[in-house]
Amino acid sequence: MRTAVLGAAGQLGRDLVPRLAGEVVPLSRADIDLEKPDTIAAYLAAHRPNVLVNCAAYNFVDKAEADPIPAFAANGLGVRLLAQACAAGGVKLVHVSTDYVFGLDAARTEPFTEDDVPGPVSAYGLSKLVGEYATRAASPGHLVVRTCGLYGVWGSGGKGGNFVETMLRVAAQGKPLRVVNDQRCTPSYTADVAEAIAGLISTGASGLYHVTNADSCTWYELAAEIFRQSGVVADLTPITSAQFGAPARRPPYSVLSNAKLGATGITPPRPWQEALAAYLAERAKPRA
Ligand SMILES: NC(=O)c1ccc[n+]([C@@H]2O[C@H](COP(=O)([O-])OP(=O)(O)OC[C@H]3O[C@@H](n4cnc5c(N)ncnc54)[C@H](OP(=O)(O)O)[C@@H]3O)[C@@H](O)[C@H]2O)c1
Repeated sequence: MRTAVLGAAGQLGRDLVPRLAGEVVPLSRADIDLEKPDTIAAYLAAHRPNVLVNCAAYNFVDKAEADPIPAFAANGLGVRLLAQACAAGGVKLVHVSTDYVFGLDAARTEPFTEDDVPGPVSAYGLSKLVGEYATRAASPGHLVVRTCGLYGVWGSGGKGGNFVETMLRVAAQGKPLRVVNDQRCTPSYTADVAEAIAGLISTGASGLYHVTNADSCTWYELAAEIFRQSGVVADLTPITSAQFGAPARRPPYSVLSNAKLGATGITPPRPWQEALAAYLAERAKPRA
């Protein structure tokens, strides 16, 4: 089996590539640029992997509010073209999406299942929802995996790092940290998410699945746990999203249920505190 991975140099892609069975072909923007339709058609005309995993996305959530065109080009139209080209070539498309397809249901307090109706509150979330629907409409046998709050040892290419590293860096500089305490979700370790995605692919799963670490926290609670586990004393204050004032709205609650994943026989990822401990141990090791 040959599996191509677009976004292979991203934080999720880098953890997924070594966990996939068979021949794996890492792809970058030089192979397929989701904002350039010709590159999508050209790649799939010339190459026929059995599976194509799309870990690539335009994920500048705040920038997308002021200028949503690149987000919709890559995450919406680009994914639609990718799904259509995969369908035409008999390639199974595995597409990665986000908890940010939720948020409109502000009164929600129970984890979202795959059957819940999405409702994004940001341009980025809406662009990712377009990509989900486009995948489902165009690509038979597709697999869409929603995940949440990713951090991995390779860091987000576009964003230059991840939340954990940002917290540790700012605390090391002795600066005060004001972190939102009214957005509840499940920050997830890319190694764990990659393991579950590889498991879903190996079992031939199709349809929509939620894959995150278990349980939930706010970003403030995550920051507090980072410092607790790292033995760092930080000047950390909880604030509201309104006080933080980010350009894009975030879901107040976007916890995803892993129950459907568990029903496949794949062990759902561990609780987020355990995953964080594993990440903190892993980040300390030298990497090639
Ligand atoms: N990060 C999170 O917290 C989070 C949460 C939930 C869901 N997700 C989803 O999880 C997936 C992986 O996210 P990640 O955090 O691993 O992202 P990442 O580290 O920022 O990596 C994204 C990758 O996508 C590539 N890319 C961006 N625009 C592209 C384009 N137009 N054409 C081709 N490649 C392009 C980037 O390549 P370049 O280096 O060339 O830009 C990069 O390799 C995405 O679908 C994202 O929406 C992420």
